[in-house]
Amino acid sequence: MPTASRSTVRDIRPKVLFQLIEAMHPESNPTFSVNIPSSAIGGATLLESAVLVSLARLTGAQSFFEFGTYMGATTLLLATNSPDSAHVTTVDLPPEAIDTAAADDAALVLQDDTANDNFLRREFAAKGGACIDRAPAAIQAKVTRLLQDTRTIDPVAQGLAGRFDFIFIDGGHDYDTIASDTAVALQLARPDAVIAWHDYRSAIHQDVTRFLDGYDAPAQLVHVQNTMIAFMLTGRFANLLPD
Ligand SMILES: C[S@@+](CC[C@H](N)C(=O)[O-])C[C@H]1O[C@@H](n2cnc3c(N)ncnc32)[C@H](O)[C@@H]1O
Repeated sequence: MPTASRSTVRDIRPKVLFQLIEAMHPESNPTFSVNIPSSAIGGATLLESAVLVSLARLTGAQSFFEFGTYMGATTLLLATNSPDSAHVTTVDLPPEAIDTAAADDAALVLQDDTANDNFLRREFAAKGGACIDRAPAAIQAKVTRLLQDTRTIDPVAQGLAGRFDFIFIDGGHDYDTIASDTAVALQLARPDAVIAWHDYRSAIHQDVTRFLDGYDAPAQLVHVQNTMIAFMLTGRFANLLPD
């Protein structure tokens, strides 16, 4: 009988992060600002939003890079819950590169990874970044939107290498794109950084799990229970979590 490949991903409860946030704020109530979650598929849940903001606060992140803008809900979350001096760069496909004519069966969109990704691309082409468009001017000023296939990003040529301390990988979810985006993320990252992936252990996007479970990561991979967030903390953040 073949042996299943062993995951090297550590599981933690969300409260491991929240306890660290509490320790940072012993005299106050730590809060964050978040939209009522969209009824559309493809965004982060409330718990995932709390996890992302907690990771940003714990590491004092100021420069964010997001693969996959979609409606811009997580872009807005990161821009809203970061210092005024922080900046979020988010990238999605040029709308003209998206095949908007094709339509997948509605049921398949919720079951099949390719149909789901194609649906999200078409939604971006139709409504791209609407949450950012609706944000106050001061928040919009904290955001740079790039329109580019993430698989073509050249961090060195584009002046992006080594500039980011928080990277969220949530663009295309097929294995090759996840592998490519992860390699690019490592180039974008500062030595001390958070790199997070969405859709780990997703029932639909199983390639994210397949990639991360087999990934020879440069730091401990961590999955937050009851979410689809996996992350790693590099450099001086590597020992931030309790054993
Ligand atoms: C799951 S959505 C992103 C959700 C967003 N990060 C959030 O939290 O609200 C995935 C997005 O990735 C984009 N995408 C898919 N493949 C891409 C690629 N190769 N390059 C750039 N963007 C891509 C899609 O157009 C879609 O808008």
